[in-house]
Amino acid sequence: MKFELVKLSYATDALEPVISKQTIEFHHGKHLQAYVNNLNNLVPGTKFENADLETIVKESEGGIFNNAGQILNHNLYFTQFSPNGGGEPSGRLAAAIDAAWGSFENFRKEFETAGVGLFGSGWVWLAKDKDGKLLITKEVNAGNPVTKGFVPLLGFDVWEHAYYLDYQNRRADHLKELWKIVDWKIVECRF
Ligand SMILES: [Fe+2]
Repeated sequence: MKFELVKLSYATDALEPVISKQTIEFHHGKHLQAYVNNLNNLVPGTKFENADLETIVKESEGGIFNNAGQILNHNLYFTQFSPNGGGEPSGRLAAAIDAAWGSFENFRKEFETAGVGLFGSGWVWLAKDKDGKLLITKEVNAGNPVTKGFVPLLGFDVWEHAYYLDYQNRRADHLKELWKIVDWKIVECRF
């Protein structure tokens, strides 16, 4: 299977000022493209030749896992944003967040705290377990909740390449801003 760079549904400058055009161009056009190229070079001749991305992430290790994990992570990441995003989730997802954390505000704080507290590179995720219960997971490097049997719903990238050009070392400020571009309709569909 030949993997391809996920297409953006918005212009590269559409998420400004939360994420700059330059960051999108590097993050999507260079970093993610490199993961795609690497995986396409690594997979031929392995048992993963006809496997889909999620299967590879669940069953591989080493370089194949790192590149496949980062493609899965970034595919979810880049498709969850919209220049018209922000606000709060509604419907079933809002009710599940209230049930788990008491309020959207509490969830948001815990999510940011998890992202700020993750040492080094990785991801913070809102995920659901097999019973539909919500949880926040921290994943180092290329990790994704699917390896734990969870379904990823919303992911914030805390690798420095996601924010350093715009926020330098201020990861907390970056995470706080990201809520303004989250497209909750997309996240609700994943739920
Ligand atoms: Fe990234």
